[in-house]
Amino acid sequence: MAGEPRRPLVAGNWKMNGLMTSVSEVSKIAAGARDLAQRVELLVCPPATLIAAFAVTVRGSPLRIGGQDCHSEARGAFTGDLAAEMLKDAGASAVIVGHSERRRYHDENDTDVRAKTMAAMRAGLMTIVCIGETRAEREAGATLSRIEQQFHDSLPVAADEKSLVIAYEPVWAIGTGLIPTTADVAEVHGFLRKQLVTRYRSAGEAIRILYGGSVKPVNAKELLGTANVDGALVGGASLKAEDFLGIAATYG
Ligand code: PGA
Repeated sequence: MAGEPRRPLVAGNWKMNGLMTSVSEVSKIAAGARDLAQRVELLVCPPATLIAAFAVTVRGSPLRIGGQDCHSEARGAFTGDLAAEMLKDAGASAVIVGHSERRRYHDENDTDVRAKTMAAMRAGLMTIVCIGETRAEREAGATLSRIEQQFHDSLPVAADEKSLVIAYEPVWAIGTGLIPTTADVAEVHGFLRKQLVTRYRSAGEAIRILYGGSVKPVNAKELLGTANVDGALVGGASLKAEDFLGIAATYG
């Protein structure tokens, strides 16, 4: 509810990593999620091939399982694609859309991302929409204008804190070990909060804004302690239970 403190969310994006043998790693994360459940929500987004097995493995624990992308249509002749309804059916309760790797390698634009966001919401999935500037945009001083444009063009007209999470991921910080200064993170997250409140009114106060890009146990405290940072979207460091739980334990 608006006015209440936002419950932090630490989400792991496994990208194209993981096989059935990874069930043991996700079991460890589920066990850790139990201990942390009072203070932080945990989500793991494995490749789609593992969603059903992971959902069964973590049943009864507070750990949630999500997808990494979805198609905008509910069904049809779209070879190789997956509908949001299918992810839900497999046991996902969330999905990431608009990740910069999808934008880059699959030519997704903001209009596509908005269609996917609406599809994910239609299916009842919590939707994590990724936005962020490239290095060239930051160097050109165009960070906030790019963020504003992505916000405006990628997000639906209506949303609340159950259906929508924003992830601010500077493209140049993903997988590089580089991170923005906390002042830069605070600037973008504060800007996004204003945009959220303008668009969604009181719900905009309750919608979580995650930071993503080279989050590790060593830098998590600094990043997650920044104003308007309500959690993290973690790539590489989410593959090992110890590192992922180490990041979440920042809220311990
Ligand atoms: P990284 O990836 O933590 O490996 O930088 C983050 C992401 O792509 O979501």
